Amino acid sequence: MKQTIILLYGGRSAEREVSVLSAESVMRAVNYDRFTVKTFFISQSGDFIKTQEFSQTPGQEDRLMTNETIDWDKKVAPSAIYEEGAVVFPVLHGPMGEDGSVQGFLEVLKMPYVGCNILSSSLAMDKITTKRVLESAGIAQVPYVAIVEGDDVIAKIAEVEEKLTYPVFTKPSNMGSSVGISKSENQEELRQALKLAFQYDSRVLVEQGVNAREIEVGLLGNYDVKSTLPGEVVKDVAFYDYDAKYIDNKITMDIPAKISDDVIAVMRRNAETAFRAIGGLGLSRCDFFYTDKGEIFLNELNTMPGFTQWSMYHYFGTIWESSTQT
Ligand SMILES: Nc1ncnc2c1ncn2[C@@H]1O[C@H](COP(=O)(O)OP(=O)(O)O)[C@@H](O)[C@H]1O
Ligand SMILES: [Mg+2]
Repeated sequence: MKQTIILLYGGRSAEREVSVLSAESVMRAVNYDRFTVKTFFISQSGDFIKTQEFSQTPGQEDRLMTNETIDWDKKVAPSAIYEEGAVVFPVLHGPMGEDGSVQGFLEVLKMPYVGCNILSSSLAMDKITTKRVLESAGIAQVPYVAIVEGDDVIAKIAEVEEKLTYPVFTKPSNMGSSVGISKSENQEELRQALKLAFQYDSRVLVEQGVNAREIEVGLLGNYDVKSTLPGEVVKDVAFYDYDAKYIDNKITMDIPAKISDDVIAVMRRNAETAFRAIGGLGLSRCDFFYTDKGEIFLNELNTMPGFTQWSMYHYFGTIWESSTQT
């Protein structure tokens, strides 16, 4: 008897189109000798639509249904995804998918699922909370100032200017895929950046801008988590924004990254420590800045990394190994 994988994709967040591409990669990678795949699309409005089923590897021309092609007659109650013995792969990125909400729903349904649980998902989705937890785990990160709705913004701008130097990066605490993020060179730009970021979240982070290479480490496992050799995102745009990442395709990957063994060791150890500190389970991708001054800063953990053709995680391939065993 083959086990059923319930593939959830789409979703309500800005990254819903990325999710479709990730889910298509997953459905092609499944071992169909052992599993069958049933897919459900979550629309931008949050409705669940029953979509295709696969009992053998889909062809390249087989595309998942999306907002343009779904059949609203196939709308089901969210709980209709339940199937005895099935496992859920929530290939959803961003808020209402990667942030613990869907994980909580699956816990309530008593369905096993791939990846991080409620706590680690929601923690990693909030950039400010992640900073604080990783700080207490002793992991180096870019200096920052956190601003939450209701704070005295003038005092906070003064704090930014005291602790950091321009350029700074302003980010909504809770988004993803570079939405609402801006780089500011002066106070006027910082004010605009804050205005923009607060449109997306009531919690905002202002970070020291760094000149850095962006290096990513894959993580797989549970309490016995293993890391990969790092890969580098090689860019030719000002910063790794949404369009560069997913639309313009101006990104190439270098796996393994051409960096020294010492730097690799620190990154892998910090990635594993960070994963354990947030209570990570299953998989994550841990992103670092390696600055022109030689500093190694952990930037973020993505608990459901992208699996698109421009994403890094699934290309790490067969090089899983534990840094503590080497
Ligand atoms: N402090 C920083 N200094 C320099 N570049 C940054 C900084 N923070 C973010 N960036 C750039 O912006 C991109 C998106 O920021 P990131 O924190 O990874 O947000 P997201 O959750 O959208 O992936 C990064 O990949 C990097 O290119
Ligand atoms: Mg990122």
